[in-house]
Parts: sequence; structure tokens; C-alpha cells
Amino acid sequence: MQNWQKETVLYQIYPKSFCDSDGDGIGDIRGIISKVPYLKSLGINAVWLSPCYPSPNDDNGYDISDYRGIAPEYGTLDDFKELLDLLHRSGIRLLLDLVVNHTSDEHEWFRESRKSRDNPYRDYYIWRDPVDGHEPNGWRAGFGGSAWEFDEQTGQYYLHLYSRKQPDLNWDNPKVREEIADMINYWLDMGVDGFRCDVINSISKDFTAEWPGMGPHLHEYLHELHVKALGPHGALTIGETWGLTPAQALLMTSEERGELTTTFQFEHLLLGRVGGDKFKKCDVDRKEFMDILAKWQYGLKDEGWPVLVMENHDQPRALSRFGDARFPYESATMLATLLYGLRGIAVIFEGQELGLENPVFKKLSDYRDIETLNAYREMEKDYDPETLLEMMNFGSRDNSRVGMPWNGGKHAGFTSGTPWIDFGFDPERTVEAEEKAERSVLKFYREFLALRQNDNVLLYGGFELLKNDGDTMVYRRSKDGDSRYIAVRFSDAPAPLPQEVPLNAECIICNYSDVTDTLRPFEARIYKA
Ligand code: NOJ
Repeated sequence: MQNWQKETVLYQIYPKSFCDSDGDGIGDIRGIISKVPYLKSLGINAVWLSPCYPSPNDDNGYDISDYRGIAPEYGTLDDFKELLDLLHRSGIRLLLDLVVNHTSDEHEWFRESRKSRDNPYRDYYIWRDPVDGHEPNGWRAGFGGSAWEFDEQTGQYYLHLYSRKQPDLNWDNPKVREEIADMINYWLDMGVDGFRCDVINSISKDFTAEWPGMGPHLHEYLHELHVKALGPHGALTIGETWGLTPAQALLMTSEERGELTTTFQFEHLLLGRVGGDKFKKCDVDRKEFMDILAKWQYGLKDEGWPVLVMENHDQPRALSRFGDARFPYESATMLATLLYGLRGIAVIFEGQELGLENPVFKKLSDYRDIETLNAYREMEKDYDPETLLEMMNFGSRDNSRVGMPWNGGKHAGFTSGTPWIDFGFDPERTVEAEEKAERSVLKFYREFLALRQNDNVLLYGGFELLKNDGDTMVYRRSKDGDSRYIAVRFSDAPAPLPQEVPLNAECIICNYSDVTDTLRPFEARIYKA
């Protein structure tokens, strides 16, 4: 793994919601271009763009109908090239979203595939005969219902692990793998620096399993992509891989094997949900939160490189889940210190740097996300509407998908038109307001990132958990005899500064204005010793 890859601070842009330049209510590439100075000012050094390819938008672009184009609502390929060039000139790399487990049912390949059983594209997808007049097996789709859809015309079912408009590609077909490798080379040749790889551990299916992911050819197919496309370009790839153990993650990312560069670790994001159900809230076990982070720091040892994330377009705002609304500044900055004080690629989702909380959706019709809407329909019989709305407000993916608040103007400066998703915002938590405020989450992120990115101990140092009682956490990062102590209070009550921090240590960043011998609510400090 190259050093620039290890030092990546990746800012995720959800193009639909970032900045609208032409007043159609939808964010676009020229909007992003206008915000490159802002990106630069944050101290990030890479951008991950969620899908911006042509798509019928059944799943907001994760249903791609043309892998080599740009969605007209986002602009043109020339706009894209201009953005890429501008980012590069600003010292910022660009990662695209690689969504190759499935396409849209409106992709040319699938349109052909469904025409007849002997169509040359038939085997690009996974077709099966009915079994006793039913679905071939009991697999459920990610957004509810069966993962199999019957197609009248040819009398077979096709597999879709997500919506029925997202048919799964058949990776066992070498032609499919060839097409994907070519497409990857097309973007890398253009200058793109890498990919976030959507549900990549599902590309090979295990047809004997209860859930098909991590099939028997996963490593082989990833290695093939590496050899044909990713490796020669030195691309940075981050796998979206839920449910992996550290050992499995190492298999997918160890350098000798040549597969992916890294994978996301999401395990801590499962906390605070009853039985893992994203719509059912319970208390977050803070001790476990830190223990999971530590487990991955230890588990990837020196062979792997962690990816540090707490928000994305599939997750509600971290502050609403793990923070405390009574201490928004303190808890947002504490969470940032706790997470990005660790070793790994730091990933920040748009608006996270402002300490945004979930917006409030007042009615079902305000939601746009297919997963939320389907879940609502499925749960309607079990809950009253008020409870349901509360559950959606807690867990919906739309919580992080509303427009980015740039200023206090109409629609927060996101668009001059009618936004594709309606949202309210807090005028105190906009880019403009936080730039002006004496103290803000935005300012803390800038200060902290500047410190982190210029500190070899924070970038490369080893990790050791020194204390975790669920309220106070202390860990050490060290390299060549030089140490940093990250000490945080994950609680609304103060406590004495833990003795794990050496007496002579010097505090180099703190989210309170002075340093005392007490850790105050959600206080976070980094010490040098
Ligand atoms: C994961 C993506 O992050 C999510 O938004 C999408 O719905 C699914 N994969 C299917 O592509």
C-alpha cells in the first residue's frame, strides 16, 4: 500500500444533495466544482463521489444504466473531467463508486438479457427456473420481499439482492468480468484514482447459503480485477463489506494476494439498534463501541490498513446516534477525535464536519428512500403511524441525504429551486455560520485534520488501548519512542483525568477552551509525550 493511500482523508459527496448549480433542485457536478475551495479548506485530500452515472434512480444511482456516462441531471462527461482536473490541481484525489454487483434493469445488458433465453446477454445475469412453481430459494432482497423476480416473457426468475430494478450480474460469466475490467480501465485511464466498491463481497454467490455473500470465487474474481485493471494503475480501492471479521478483511486486502487495498469496518455502526434492526433504537453500549474500534486496530495488525467511518449515505447522522443533543459541539468533536485519532483512512461524509443531526421528517410522503418506504409498508401493520414515523426518523437513510446546508438562505443555499427532498435545517449549523462562529465543529475538524495529517505518530503509530470503562477511553499511538495519548470522556458527567495519561504529557488539541485536571462532558484531548 502506498503512503498516499494510507494518509487518505476521504470526503464522501452524495452528488444529489451537495450543491445544485442550475436550480433544478438536484445537486450536480458544477455545484461540486464551485465548492472545491471549500473542500480544499477542510484539509481533506480525496473525494469519493457516490454514483453519478446515468440511472433511473430507483436506488439513487446505485442502479446504473450506463457505466461509462454521467447522469444528465448531474452534468456532462466534460463537466466531470473538469472536476477531476480541478481536484487534482488542488491536491485532491477522486474515487468513484464502483457498483458492479448489480446493474439497473434498464441497463442495455439487462434489456437484452431478458429478451429470450438464448440472447447473447442472457448469462450476464442470474436466471433460474421456478422450483415447484415458486422462487428458486428463500433469499430475501435487501429492500424487502423475495430476492427473485419472475419474468413472464421467458418464464424464469432473475436474482436481485436489492430492488427488483437492480438485477445481480453473473460474475461466473468471464465476459461479465471482462466488461467490468474494461470499464474500470476506462475510468482509471481518464485519471480517476480509485473506487469505493459497493457490496463487493457479494459478487460471487454461495447458492448453498442462507445469504449468498462471500461466495466461493470472491477472491479469485477480485484478484482478476486487480491484475487486469486496478493493480497496474495503483488504484486505491475500499470495499464496502459488511459482516467481515478482521481475518476475512485481511484476506481481501493483504498485499501479496492482490485484491483490494482496504475494506470499511462498520461493526461499531450496528450498536444502538435492537437486534441490529436499523429502525429500532436502544442505548449505545459505549464500552463496546470502543472495544470494537480497538478490535479492528489490533485485528488488522501491520498487514492491513483500517478505514475509519461513522457516517455515510446509508446511515443516520452519527451525532444523533452516538452523540448527545445537549452537548452537540462537544460530542461531535469528541467522536471525531476518538475515531480519527486511530490509525487508518479517515472517511468523512458531507455535513458531518458541521456536526449535523438528523433532520425531522414530519410525514411519510417526505421520504424518498426506497428502503425506508418499503420498510414502512412492511411494518405498517405492526405499529401506529406516529411510532412508525419516529422509527423512520431514527433509522432512515434519508437522514443523511438531505441538502447540504451552506448558508442561512432559502433551502440552506443548497438550491435556488425546489429541492428533490424537502428538509429543514438549523441556521446555526451551516458552513457560513460555522465559519463565522468563534467555536464550531467545522473549525475543530479543520484544526484536527491539519494536526493529524502532519503528525507521523498519528498517521503511522501503533495502537494500544489503555483504558475503556465505557465512559472514559484512553488509547496510545506510538512510533519510534514518540507517543500520543488520546483521552476522551464519552459521558455527560465529568471525571478526573485518567492516570493513564502521563503527568508530563503536553496537550496538543482539546475541544474545550482550557485544559484542567478534569475531563468534562464529552471532552476530548490528544497529548504528546
Ligand atoms: C450499498 C449502498 O451504499 C447503498 O446505498 C445501496 O442501496 C446498496 N449498496 C445497493 O447498491
